[in-house]
Amino acid sequence: MSTTLISYEELKQKVDSLPRKHLAVLPTGLQALPRLAAAARIGELLVKRDDLTGIALGGNKSRLMEFILGDAIAKGCDVFIAGGGGEQSNHAVQCVAAANRVGLETIIVLQRRPDARTNGNALLHEVVGGKTLWIDSDPLLQDRTSAGKSMQTEAERLMALGRHPYVLESSLHALSVVAYVNATIELFGQLTDPQTKPTRIYVTSEGAVLGGLLLGSQLLGLPWELIGLDWRPTQSDTRDRLHGVISAAATVLGVANPVEIDDIEIHPAGGPAYGVGRPESWTAISTAARLEGLLLDPVYTAKGYAGMIEDLKYRPPSPDERIIFIHTGGIAALFAYEAELRRNVIAPPVSQ
Ligand SMILES: Cc1ncc(COP(=O)(O)O)c(C=O)c1O
Repeated sequence: MSTTLISYEELKQKVDSLPRKHLAVLPTGLQALPRLAAAARIGELLVKRDDLTGIALGGNKSRLMEFILGDAIAKGCDVFIAGGGGEQSNHAVQCVAAANRVGLETIIVLQRRPDARTNGNALLHEVVGGKTLWIDSDPLLQDRTSAGKSMQTEAERLMALGRHPYVLESSLHALSVVAYVNATIELFGQLTDPQTKPTRIYVTSEGAVLGGLLLGSQLLGLPWELIGLDWRPTQSDTRDRLHGVISAAATVLGVANPVEIDDIEIHPAGGPAYGVGRPESWTAISTAARLEGLLLDPVYTAKGYAGMIEDLKYRPPSPDERIIFIHTGGIAALFAYEAELRRNVIAPPVSQ
């Protein structure tokens, strides 16, 4: 769809009217990486540097925190309960680090995994502080039901003590989608030359990031194709759940939701399981680092980048097309994958 449903100014005004704590370094850069473009055989590749958002080691979740914590503070909450992932959760580190900036106490629920790593985000999480509640749950991190229940139980315990908890059960939340509507407004403002609008935007996301970009792009009538690359095997109800949250975000913004379920395009890039790389994702890490000094992480962005390369091979764009990859961060996990990086990137197997 390329009909403008709402003007740039009107959408910006709607987003700006919501409670928000300005915490991230925005706008993030939009960087041309010609050596990677040449390697991918495309005319132009721009990388939106949402890995450099200025909270802890940065990443997509910084944008979410601005709206979530703004909401928590507007509601008079005095403790922030969040998390849900495993020990390598970027989200958990961002939740604590951002809450530290506004002086809000945090309680993070994390799922214990048998193969938990102690470096990377696990280490950063201890550095940024906050209280952690470990639960035994789904080691593949596909099911977050018990994490959500634990957060609610903790909230009830605190309320009985007279506290005012704010619970963020999952980053798949209407305000997270709003945060990426805001990122779409930002990106649109950075693309000043209408002749050079990108034709495709790729992002490692099956959730709020993709949802916000879709909603923002459709509201503004931006004609590019948005492709989400998953970071774990996609569940059958992923698109339905995302569609529901996009509708909730549209309600928050006071607009009708133009996004149809069939507009949600998610390509399989997640490999065998959460956190498990595949040959193409290790190649992505090596190529990006060695051609442009761009760091991708093994859990999310390397998988997404590899998925983009596969799609570009399968559906090559014409030579004058401009492609954007949104870098969502996750860099801390690099340090938790030393053994795999040594095996697959630093000294990859000698080809026969
Ligand atoms: C670095 C990074 N990239 C991408 C994602 C995926 O985002 P979404 O929740 O939109 O699927 C996450 C989510 O945790 C992340 O930490």
